[in-house]
Amino acid sequence: MRKITGLLAALTLAASVGLRAQTNELVVQTKKVGAEIQPTMYGLFFEDINYAADGGLYAELVKNRSFEFPQKLMGWKTFGKVLLKDDGPFEKNPHYVRLAYAGHQHKQTGLDNEGFFGIGVKKGQEYRFSVWARIPEGSKPGKIRVELVNTASAGEQQAFAAETLEIDTKEWKKYQVMLRPDVTDAKAVLRIFLAAPQTVDLEHVSLFPADTWKGHENGLRKDLAQALADIKPGIFRFPGGCIVEGTDLATRYDWKKSVGPVENRPLNENRWQYTFSHRFYPDYFQSYGLGFYEFFLLSEEIGAEPLPVLSCGLACQFQNSDADAHVALCDLDEYVRDALDLIEFANGGIDTPWGKVRADMGHPAPFNLKFIGIGNEQWGKEYPEHLEPFVAAIRQAYPELKIVGSSGPDSEGKQFDYLWPEMKRLKADLVDEHFYRPEAWFLSQGARYDNYDREGPKVFAGEYACHGKGKKWNHFHAALLEAAFMTGLERNADIVHMATYAPLFAHVEGWQWRPDMIWYDNLNSVRTVSYHVQQLYATHKGTNILPLTMDKVPVTGAEGQNGLFASAVYDKDAEEYIIKVVNTSDKVQPLTLKFDGLKKKETLSGGRCIKLTSAEPDKDNTLENPSAIVPRESALLVSGQSLNAELEANTFAIYILKK
Ligand code: AHR
Repeated sequence: MRKITGLLAALTLAASVGLRAQTNELVVQTKKVGAEIQPTMYGLFFEDINYAADGGLYAELVKNRSFEFPQKLMGWKTFGKVLLKDDGPFEKNPHYVRLAYAGHQHKQTGLDNEGFFGIGVKKGQEYRFSVWARIPEGSKPGKIRVELVNTASAGEQQAFAAETLEIDTKEWKKYQVMLRPDVTDAKAVLRIFLAAPQTVDLEHVSLFPADTWKGHENGLRKDLAQALADIKPGIFRFPGGCIVEGTDLATRYDWKKSVGPVENRPLNENRWQYTFSHRFYPDYFQSYGLGFYEFFLLSEEIGAEPLPVLSCGLACQFQNSDADAHVALCDLDEYVRDALDLIEFANGGIDTPWGKVRADMGHPAPFNLKFIGIGNEQWGKEYPEHLEPFVAAIRQAYPELKIVGSSGPDSEGKQFDYLWPEMKRLKADLVDEHFYRPEAWFLSQGARYDNYDREGPKVFAGEYACHGKGKKWNHFHAALLEAAFMTGLERNADIVHMATYAPLFAHVEGWQWRPDMIWYDNLNSVRTVSYHVQQLYATHKGTNILPLTMDKVPVTGAEGQNGLFASAVYDKDAEEYIIKVVNTSDKVQPLTLKFDGLKKKETLSGGRCIKLTSAEPDKDNTLENPSAIVPRESALLVSGQSLNAELEANTFAIYILKK
């Protein structure tokens, strides 16, 4: 009998050892509430790449509205008697067009604008057409007819919305009228006819949907801004990216040119027009219509801290090996001044010169700027040399401002290893790291931040995305690996204070760089799986880190961890435990989530689980099928102090439990 009992005990032990070998026991230490997760932890990085500003988020529908493209009539088709003139009312945009009688009542004068890949308008919506106009000396009052037309229409009428405007002032004046299309058209043309046998001058020809984000006249496309707000971002970095630097210094992003009356913001080049000759877009420019005021306002409206990044006086180093391309150290003053003035623009009282500019634009209250980035992907000794005077001047004038430096374009290696100590030496508050890397890299970086120096600057994972090897497009598997990698950001939230996926936006007909987070055409937009990953993290970020281990070590996708990555946080406000687990393996993984440290009578309840998965790892959401892969929530049955679950292969799961 004793033998049988002994055998049974041995079998039970063997079975339980076998079971333990199969299940993945993740232990959360509920008593060790750790570092605070910064409100800025998950955010957004905006750059005007892939027609993200003009033709994208910025809701202007007219391309080259001020006739300032190098080819002055690019985007326009003129007919009849149209003359280009250059003594217009706006100093920085002097060109305009003069429309004169075509000479016969059956002949027409006017011009068509092609928009950005066409002009997208929706049935039942209102569109505000506006134009600065006058009648020249000696002319009588004139008239224009403004139409939305479908030039490919097989119907009787090309126009599906039309209005007239009387132009009766000799002084330049802004005229406007609402167009109300009765059809939806993704590729309409804006047509302007001279509608009386007189002469009129037209400048800054503009068409906006009336229904913009928050209703601003110089506004943003509502669906795209809403997608940003829905992430609940903590930080909003702008305006780039490489466009901060410029191909040359003259074409760097110059914030001072991007504020003030929109009609007088000068055109800038956009380097993404020609960066890749295999994806060349000759009509891609920056109107600065979406400028720093609009960026600050958007940050405020989506609840994110603004993080402007300015040129440090180095033009893009990828494009310039010649030292003369950059500002000599002795000539940096103007650039440093730009940074100080920007802080005044954002935070200064209305009695300060730049605070007044902000107030005159409609925002007397300060924007409460807390962070500023100096330099984008810079490298070499030139970078710390250029950064140093900025740090000195900003520290002296605005000691409370946090300065973001850069670790260069690489995720590791020579420049990275050189720049991090330099950033420490200069006492940068945060260091911006970039990684556009393949699957293997993301799988190997679960523990990236575990051994970072806790005394040095904090980390800003400022640009990252999984670029699948041979699959450089949006797809589920890449997003899954981003989710896996992000457990490492979260576990190290004591040192990682900000993270932003990049790039943010792409027009389906105008992209230069993939993958991207949000895609759109002229009418609709789609949130990719990467978007959902970002959103899941940002909306379940909790307030404090909690230690989570398997076999006493963090779950980082290391050898023997069955392709699992995990992190745990506590949300003090909601009193919830939030456990993120990513199964990157091709097998279902049994999980036991064990909550150590709870009092005997404390049990878990109110459980729910959100999962993001797909049977088609190479696919993503599309404009045609925007909800193909979206998070699904279900209730969890929990009792006691642990939870048993099965995590499907290639799945990102968030378990949310209440004490
Ligand atoms: O996000 C696209 C580009 O990638 C950014 O402009 C630059 O910072 C990085 O090289």
